[in-house]
Amino acid sequence: MRILQVSAELFPLLKTGGLADVAGALPAALGAQGCAVRVLLPGFPAVLAALRAPQKVGSFTTPWGEGVDIVAGEFPGLGAAGGVLQAYVLMAPGLYDRPGNPYHDAQQSPYADNHRRFAALAWGAAHLAYGLDSAWSPQLVHCHDWHAGLAPACMAFWDSPQRVPTLFTIHNLAYQGCFAAGTFADLGLPASAFGVHGLEFYGQVSFMKAALVYADHISTVSPTYAREIQTAEQGFGLDGLLRSRAAQLSGILNGVDGSVWDPGQDALLAHPFGARKPAGKALNKAVLQAETGLDVLPGAPLFTVVGRLTEQKGLPLVLAGIEEIVDGGGQLLVLGSGDADLEHALALQARARPGRMAVRLGYDEALAHRIFGGSDVTLVPSRFEPCGLTQLYGLKYGSLPLVRRVGGLADTVVDTDLETLDDRSATGFVFDAFDSAPYRRALRRALALYRRRADWSRVRHNGMRIAFSWENSARQYRDLYASLISTH
Ligand code: ADP
Ligand code: GLC
Repeated sequence: MRILQVSAELFPLLKTGGLADVAGALPAALGAQGCAVRVLLPGFPAVLAALRAPQKVGSFTTPWGEGVDIVAGEFPGLGAAGGVLQAYVLMAPGLYDRPGNPYHDAQQSPYADNHRRFAALAWGAAHLAYGLDSAWSPQLVHCHDWHAGLAPACMAFWDSPQRVPTLFTIHNLAYQGCFAAGTFADLGLPASAFGVHGLEFYGQVSFMKAALVYADHISTVSPTYAREIQTAEQGFGLDGLLRSRAAQLSGILNGVDGSVWDPGQDALLAHPFGARKPAGKALNKAVLQAETGLDVLPGAPLFTVVGRLTEQKGLPLVLAGIEEIVDGGGQLLVLGSGDADLEHALALQARARPGRMAVRLGYDEALAHRIFGGSDVTLVPSRFEPCGLTQLYGLKYGSLPLVRRVGGLADTVVDTDLETLDDRSATGFVFDAFDSAPYRRALRRALALYRRRADWSRVRHNGMRIAFSWENSARQYRDLYASLISTH
């Protein structure tokens, strides 16, 4: 099967979150399942810098009159079995030649022309689907998140007797790509598309809604989130539409890319380790404590957060639970960036607890590996979580996840109690209500288990042995592609 994957990010070229990890891992995982995946990306500087053997395959003009070249090339090492990944890149320097974050400027303001930047991506996908490259065309287009959300609309209105089916994956319904009504004129779609049964959303243009209306099938990144987004609480205003499409909505869990995340082979760890030989874990912990200015205390349970510092990720709870950790003899290490208020509050708390709490503001891929490798507990007390990857990395690296029972977190972590300890299914700590009291109780349970060394080791071992590999998920995508292609 020939699949075109469309996304704005792809690890290791460009990453702001889990979307990039997924977009980076899927092509190779699908390759192992017999799919020939090519990717389409905007020509951001980091993408162009990695592209080898670029060759122009065609060009098109955007609805607002800007010329865009499509270049085919290769990304070495990112394809199946470590081979090359075949890629298409949009060459439009006026839209994409901006350093840093792909969505906003240095002041965190979204670029004023974002609707054009991602409409161009959508039209690029449609042109490739309908024959722009005479040497290759996809049988299905798989779009990720709102950045690629307009593509199913462009393709639905394409004038062709033969239809190429589309799959749209929601990674986070909270980010919808909404723009003022006036931007609709730039999108090149018929006027009928701007209505309640099209991409109009409370008077605005919504790229997310465009995808949810026009894609042939919708998926999201965990079975639980697939159910949650059909409720008013978690539907961000789109739950009615999602309920109406329930028959074409699937939840497929993300996996862990073992070529990037493997504590036994991880070159970023001073002391690689594994489920059978966990000794390196304690050595990594000492290195991590020293490098982040924490007291080097082998017996202090080290709790950590790696992620975007936002309300979604439950940072208000993390702030409310600091005393619990420190008074219980533990330490807290936070790596992340995000809301200025949360960054400030965390930094203040850390300053008041030298040796016990440390905060690293910013984005640091290598430090993230050392943190999972050296910490004891990975905190993910999210308000909502489509899938979540850090709890999966925590599991694999022997840092027990402490999570709220929501979205993909509910699907991937098993709470520790006498029964799950006994049957060896326990992998972490799970609490229910988004409230500081149950969160702090979960922290106390973690602290108590830490004092029972044999039980702790057993739970850690359980988690490290669970493989949330991409193989299983890629197989589900492959089967979904096959059924969509056969019914079109
Ligand atoms: P989300 O996509 O909602 O941000 P995920 O858990 O799915 O959450 O994925 C987050 C990804 O980004 C993980 O690979 C995580 O390790 C990484 N990450 C987040 N913040 C940082 C940071 N400050 N430094 C390094 N890696 C980070
Ligand atoms: C989103 C979600 C996260 C998910 C990631 C990859 O950013 O917030 O839960 O793991 O996408 O699918």
